[in-house]
Amino acid sequence: MITEMYSCCILLMVSLLSVCSGIETQWKVQEFPNPIYQVEDCGRSADVEKSWICDPNKVISEQDVNDISDKLVEIYTNSRCNCAMCINNRTGYVVMVAIMPKMYRIINASNSMSDIIQDARVYSYYLSMYWGSFATCKQLVLLLVSRDDGVVYTLTQMDARRKLTDEMITKITLDNQKYFDGNDRVKMGQGIKSMINKYGELLRKPSTE
Ligand SMILES: *[C@@H]1O[C@H](CO)[C@@H](O)[C@H](O)[C@H]1NC(C)=O
Ligand SMILES: *[C@@H]1O[C@H](CO)[C@@H](O)[C@H](O)[C@H]1NC(C)=O
Repeated sequence: MITEMYSCCILLMVSLLSVCSGIETQWKVQEFPNPIYQVEDCGRSADVEKSWICDPNKVISEQDVNDISDKLVEIYTNSRCNCAMCINNRTGYVVMVAIMPKMYRIINASNSMSDIIQDARVYSYYLSMYWGSFATCKQLVLLLVSRDDGVVYTLTQMDARRKLTDEMITKITLDNQKYFDGNDRVKMGQGIKSMINKYGELLRKPSTE
C-alpha cells in the first residue's frame, strides 16, 4: 500500500516536473533553437536531417513541418541566387521558418499591431543573424509565425528581395490570412505551406534583369 502511494507520488512528481521544466512557450530570441544544430529542440525526431524550420512547441503538425522542410530544400536546389558563390556552387535561396506560440518582445513599445510588427521585424532580424550567417549572398528569406501575437512576418535579405518584393510579400500574406485567423493548428499548417509554395514559385523565376 505504502509502496503504491510512493510510486504514485513519484509519478505525479515526475509529471509535475515535466510540466515545470517543459519548454518555453514565450521565446527569447537568443534561446529559440537553431534548426541546423538543434534538430530535436526544434520538435523533430532525431533521425531527420538538419533543417531550416523550427517549431519547438508543435504549433503545427509534425507532418506539415516535414512537408515544409522538404519544400525548403527543393527551393534551395531549384532556384539560383545572384552572386558568384550561388552560381559556381549551383545553390539558391535559403528560406527559413520559425514558428512559436509567442515571441518575447524585444522592444515592446505597446500592444498596437504596428508595434508588434516592429518587434517581429527586430526579432526576425536577430534570428536571421543567428541562423543564416552562411547565407553570404544575402539570399535569405525568414518567415516568422508567432501564433498568440497574431504575427506572420517575412524578412528578406537584399538578393532575395529582388525576386520576392515587399509588395509581393504583403499580397501573399493577406491572401493567406484566412488560414491564420482562428489559431487552428491544421489551417495554420496549410497557410504556411501555401505561403512557402508561393515564395518558391517566385524565387525560382529567372531574373528579369
Ligand atoms: C562555394 O563556392 C565557394 C567559392 O566560390 C567555395 O569557397 C565554397 O567552399 C563553396 N561552398 C560549397 C558548400 O560548396
Ligand atoms: C511588454 O509590456 C507589457 C505591458 O506593457 C508587459 O506586461 C510584458 O511583460 C512586457 N514584456 C514582454 C516580454 O512581453
